[in-house]
Amino acid sequence: MKKMMMQSCYRKGLQVCLLLLMVERLQGRVTAPERLEAPVEKPFTLTCSVSRERGELLRQVRWLDVKNQTLLTYQPGNRESVSGQQHVELASSPKDSSAITIRRVGFRDEGCYTCIFDMNPSGSKQGLTCLTVTAQVTVESNKTAVSGKKASLSCSYGLPEKVQQITWKHTSAKGDSTEVASFAKRSDPMIEPSFQGRVWLSASLSDSQLTIQPVSVQDEGCYTCLYNTHSDGPKMSTVCLVTYVLPKPQVSYKTTSPGVIEANCTSVSRPPAEIVWNVERDNRTVGPPVTTLLPQGDGTTLVISTLTVQSGLLKDVSIKCLVHHKGLESPIAVSMNTKIGTALTILISVTTAASLLVMSLCFCLWKCFLHKEDPMRRLKPTTN
Ligand SMILES: *[C@@H]1O[C@H](CO)[C@@H](O)[C@H](O)[C@H]1NC(C)=O
Ligand SMILES: *[C@@H]1O[C@H](CO)[C@@H](O)[C@H](O)[C@H]1NC(C)=O
Ligand SMILES: *[C@@H]1O[C@H](CO)[C@@H](O)[C@H](O)[C@H]1NC(C)=O
Ligand SMILES: *[C@@H]1O[C@H](CO)[C@@H](O)[C@H](O)[C@H]1NC(C)=O
Repeated sequence: MKKMMMQSCYRKGLQVCLLLLMVERLQGRVTAPERLEAPVEKPFTLTCSVSRERGELLRQVRWLDVKNQTLLTYQPGNRESVSGQQHVELASSPKDSSAITIRRVGFRDEGCYTCIFDMNPSGSKQGLTCLTVTAQVTVESNKTAVSGKKASLSCSYGLPEKVQQITWKHTSAKGDSTEVASFAKRSDPMIEPSFQGRVWLSASLSDSQLTIQPVSVQDEGCYTCLYNTHSDGPKMSTVCLVTYVLPKPQVSYKTTSPGVIEANCTSVSRPPAEIVWNVERDNRTVGPPVTTLLPQGDGTTLVISTLTVQSGLLKDVSIKCLVHHKGLESPIAVSMNTKIGTALTILISVTTAASLLVMSLCFCLWKCFLHKEDPMRRLKPTTN
């Protein structure tokens, strides 16, 4: 028959020939994607289609799962005939094709599915489509931690069944990479010797949590969690950690020349703090302050802001140093103590005035009381 067709092709032209050959090749066959990747925990639709010869009737469609068990069967055009497992449903599909949706893909759905088209009178035609269940490693966004406190980094992977081992690596800003901890199936979390006593790892192959306590500036950098899977190769993701050292500012001052005071506001922090001076009721700085930045060996920076003021100003208004830092919700204010003297004077004056008032009130009351009670007292002995 092919030979005859080829011969007729030469007569009718090459285009018609190719078309006829293609139609012949597809006839009676089931087409289905050979290999598909389905993300875990999402719905996924499988599709098969059959090419039907003229006069052929499609009686029934059957789907078999990865264990060759019946997943779903139905007769095309008959909604009542659909029967099958709970976790799948029939999806809409064009004529001569069939689609089923797995409501929520899980690890157990991985494998090959068979679609069978029962035709009349030619019998069954079947196709095979294989599913690989995939997942991504997810991490939370970059983190900041306060030096001396706790930092927790976490990573998760939706297919713990495929994981053999999870490893955490630290990469410093300089680019040095070191292994921190690991956890393998049927064993305990392993912490590298240099991190022991201050790093902990959860015993989980899906949600992995690395805890560092206390956090130091050296812990800054990026952490990669690597999931070794037996079928999908290594899967990884990275989260970066920034360590803050919070400022504890101090103010000191001295008289440099008669009537002139030099004040220093100092703060050691990471990253460097921003220091501004604030003058009560008038938040202009008194003269331009001079800022000096001195990087310390441990990753922190000493910031000194020097302000020169007329000593007369200190008597009237309060001068504060405001330290702004990314790790603080609001700036730290340090007063130059000058206003305490004034406040104390006011307090003493108020107390003195109040005492005087109370004393005079008492005196007045006592006088009135005596005045009224005197006749009574004189009467009392006579009644007895
Ligand atoms: C399912 O049946 C096919 C043949 O139809 C066979 O090759 C395959 O190994 C079977 N799979 C299982 C899991 O039994
Ligand atoms: C996390 O920090 C690293 C390095 O600081 C940066 O390259 C990356 O873009 C950050 N990622 C996010 C999600 O902000
Ligand atoms: C303020 O700091 C400078 C160094 O930046 C120092 O020379 C000066 O003595 C300090 N003054 C006071 C009052 O501490
Ligand atoms: C003083 O500071 C307040 C807030 O701290 C601001 O609203 C105001 O504009 C400042 N005034 C001057 C003169 O800078």
